[in-house]
Amino acid sequence: MNNMTMAMRRRPEILRMLCRTILSASSSSEQIAKSCSSDEMIKYEQEYSAHNYHPIPVVFSKAKDVHVWDPEGRKYLDFLSAYSAVNQGHRHQKILDALVEQAQQLTLSSRAFYNDKFPVFAKYLTNLFGYDMVLPMNTGAEGVETALKLARKWGYEKKGIPKNEGIIVSCCGCFHGRTLGVISMSCDNEATRGFGPFLPGQLKVDFGDVAALKNIFEVHGDKVAGFLFEPIQGEAGVILPPEGYIQSVRELCSKYNVLMIADEIQTGIARTGKLLACDWEGVRPDVVILGKALGGGVLPVSAVLADKDVMLCIKPGEHGSTFGGNPLASAVAIASLEVVVEEKLAERAVEMGQVFRNQFLDLQNAHPDIIKEVRGRGLLNAVELNAKGLSSVSAFDICQQLKERGILAKPTHDTIIKFSPPLTIRLEELSEAVKAFKEVLEHDLPKMRQQLQGSVTEHQPSACDRCGRHEYNRRPAGIRYQQQIFEEESNCFLENI
Ligand SMILES: Cc1ncc(COP(=O)(O)O)c(C=O)c1O
Repeated sequence: MNNMTMAMRRRPEILRMLCRTILSASSSSEQIAKSCSSDEMIKYEQEYSAHNYHPIPVVFSKAKDVHVWDPEGRKYLDFLSAYSAVNQGHRHQKILDALVEQAQQLTLSSRAFYNDKFPVFAKYLTNLFGYDMVLPMNTGAEGVETALKLARKWGYEKKGIPKNEGIIVSCCGCFHGRTLGVISMSCDNEATRGFGPFLPGQLKVDFGDVAALKNIFEVHGDKVAGFLFEPIQGEAGVILPPEGYIQSVRELCSKYNVLMIADEIQTGIARTGKLLACDWEGVRPDVVILGKALGGGVLPVSAVLADKDVMLCIKPGEHGSTFGGNPLASAVAIASLEVVVEEKLAERAVEMGQVFRNQFLDLQNAHPDIIKEVRGRGLLNAVELNAKGLSSVSAFDICQQLKERGILAKPTHDTIIKFSPPLTIRLEELSEAVKAFKEVLEHDLPKMRQQLQGSVTEHQPSACDRCGRHEYNRRPAGIRYQQQIFEEESNCFLENI
């Protein structure tokens, strides 16, 4: 142990002083990474990085499989898996080996030339998922943008939609990423405020509402190129559609000649217990978008899958990405998919998910005033808390306490906590999380409530700026919303009447 490390262990003030010195302009990045505490790292990031997420204050320094360590050596169980990008577990050896081996040969060609890894990946991926062709990209949002462009192109070339009149239908409460095209479909004020004007040619429909979708297709069907949806709405809080919904969507899309576009970026690659969540209803979408776990938590890799009649509507030069289909990503993606197949991660997700939900349901029985609902499929799960039971405490506060007890989970909206661990997780580790949650509810929550007494927290979702609805993502069964189209910054949205 060197002198600096010994001093840092002994005295937090010395550590802070040292960090300040190290963070001065003369220090190297390596020095900073080796010497700073979590708090210093967080400050450092806050000073130099723009905002994007609302992070839980924990710093990842090392990870393996389901575990993460912070710079102080504290160990955590990862129940977010980087939003389902780490289905295979952190730093899976097979994926790392593929990365290193390929890095020693070739990392980038750009598709201005061919390389000898992408075709292998393309063949493996298309065979595994049963589609003719793949269009490779990098991030999830790029994958979605690609699918939207593909649908428009197909709409004009194959369906005969008049020029520039193509419409894409998407769902209220959806999350497909953060690009302008994608947020044009969002009902999330945080994602949309201040970023208009939005993309024209959009229509919204309630997720899970077959009758409303049918109405839209009846009224606008001639111009609708695609219906984009998540088979389970992940970021909205793990919202499952009614049984049979995906099959009905398939039937409607076929009847009205609309491309059924499944965003399986979060639900795909075994997360829900099948290779694709659409497999639960035996449905084959026309277009599938993959991302996240396709890169095994190592590199950003996304892909759009479709058959030739759709995919070949995009001609050479009409779409691309410098890094899309790069050999390094291709090697990593092959290994990532092989791990999912070889380790039967889909089967594991079904088994572990059931145990997890059962344990949480027991907890709900013990605390019905606080736990409103436990839901999910495979290892994509959420626990929704009662706003009343929480009083001024938020799901974020609960996640902070979970972190103190070694469990990393992330809230979505004010009252929902998502649990999506790596699919390699073991029974004891799942139980550890449930135990920690129980302790937070029984020991920490009463204290937090007391501390926050008198402070006012709004747990009600604010009305969507664009459609005016208060609760866009959850609807009591049986309630139907009459459709009315209105124009807002050249967008069509459905309004609840
Ligand atoms: C369903 C879905 N689509 C798209 C995205 C966007 O992916 P990325 O953050 O890689 O752009 C996400 C990210 O959470 C997602 O959950």
